[in-house]
Amino acid sequence: PNEPPLVFHWFPFIGSTITYGMDPPTFFTENREKYGDVFTFILLGKKTTVYVGPNGNDFILNGKLRDVSAEDIYTVLTTPVFGKDVVYDCPNSKLMEQKKFMKIALTTEAFRSYVPIISHEVTSYFKTNKDFKGKSGIVNISAKMAEITIFTASHALQGSDIRGKFDESLAALYHDLDMGFSPINFMLHWAPLPWNRRRDHAQRTVAQIYMNTIKERRAQGNTAGLDMLTHLMNSSYKDGTKVPDHEVAHMMIALLMAGQHSSSSTSSWIMLRLAQNPAIMEELYQEQIRALGSDLPPLKYEDLAKLPLNQAIVKETLRLHAPIHSIMRAVKQPMPVPNTKYVIPTSHVLLAAPGVSASDPGYFPNPDIWDPHRWDPSSPNAPTINRSDVEDEKIDYGYGLVSKGSASPYLPFGAGRHRCIGEHFANVQLQTITAEVVRLFKFRNPDGSDKLIGTDYASLFSRPLEPANIYWERRQ
Ligand code: HEM
Repeated sequence: PNEPPLVFHWFPFIGSTITYGMDPPTFFTENREKYGDVFTFILLGKKTTVYVGPNGNDFILNGKLRDVSAEDIYTVLTTPVFGKDVVYDCPNSKLMEQKKFMKIALTTEAFRSYVPIISHEVTSYFKTNKDFKGKSGIVNISAKMAEITIFTASHALQGSDIRGKFDESLAALYHDLDMGFSPINFMLHWAPLPWNRRRDHAQRTVAQIYMNTIKERRAQGNTAGLDMLTHLMNSSYKDGTKVPDHEVAHMMIALLMAGQHSSSSTSSWIMLRLAQNPAIMEELYQEQIRALGSDLPPLKYEDLAKLPLNQAIVKETLRLHAPIHSIMRAVKQPMPVPNTKYVIPTSHVLLAAPGVSASDPGYFPNPDIWDPHRWDPSSPNAPTINRSDVEDEKIDYGYGLVSKGSASPYLPFGAGRHRCIGEHFANVQLQTITAEVVRLFKFRNPDGSDKLIGTDYASLFSRPLEPANIYWERRQ
């Protein structure tokens, strides 16, 4: 009786699955107009309650452990891919410790070492890749960015020994792991289907590769590097137990999977936006000349802070193309929604969609325009980002202080206990890739227009429809 309004639908079970699945942002915006910030729809037979806007983000993402659970939703998908005893296959308190280990590894010193690694991967990719032969051409940029993301992330986070294996066995194995990571597996994760068999084989094989590498590094006394693998190998839980090798291996898979999809789709969107806006690409080039010198010396970590437009490109792209459009939680006990008459029963799933506030004209003037300059406070499109009635509260869930996010309509990295620990890494990776691409190329749309390709929502991540073709031309 006190449940939120139910979105109208014709068929039981199917409910709004199709309209939601085809275009989640439009589905959220249209139903918000009809029903308000809190409404329920049927997703594959399950009552799914959306609560949009900053209050909704806070209600769901900062929910108490006894009220909401991420692992109840995600474990069927993630555990067969990552492996046992990590992330959503362990108590939340253990995940919080694991996130602390991951976060501590990402020091300023580590980032200083990552920028040259990433730069080198990018430049050598464009030097040798067969689709970038000659002076100009047309290429499906999504396929290219997927490779560049995995090469840069694996080299920086996992070390050159692991990176070397991506030219051979590991790329195909990660592809098989990926196939297990699709929405259909929310229902069919258990089924002895060909793609699930390949997923299970790949999980065992990849985990074994990491465990062998750990043993090799120990045998060689090579345990002082700045990559994530070394750091996790040397970590211990609060009760004194060392992180077992299989958990290190499974965390490495989890990190690469978490980073791969989100960064790869974001970098594709960045390149597509640059092709749509060649004048901004030129501005980025001039920014580097001005800030770093006309000889464009090798990029350093410290340089990234001197390139505000380059930083804003990433920020603005994540505003309109946040890769994660829906964040789900199981409801563990009935949850009254503050200042309303609604109570969310345990039979519902909660869904947060921070992308809705990120494209709300109430916070972002002309929200549909991709305008990196809006992040300059003097811009007419500058966000009215902080809600004056709410403090930006920080809270420690066990892996360092994080923003509760309640005061911000812009949360591409989530908020609360499940917030991203890879934000800074992703920024460094994406900014470095963008800066290097700008040094090498001019982009535009193949037909010279300023249109933008549509979004594919069929996987769990919002990525460009393929082929996402751009025209490239080498700078002289
Ligand atoms: C969690 C976004 C890159 C590791 C999250 C969440 C979001 C997010 C929205 C919260 C999910 C939830 O509440 O259910 C992004 C975006 C990225 C990115 C937009 C890039 C543009 C990365 C990278 C890494 C990473 C590069 C690893 C180096 C993680 C981890 C979690 C997380 C470990 C925690 C999951 C949990 O506690 O349940 N990310 N991420 N992410 N992300 Fe990222």
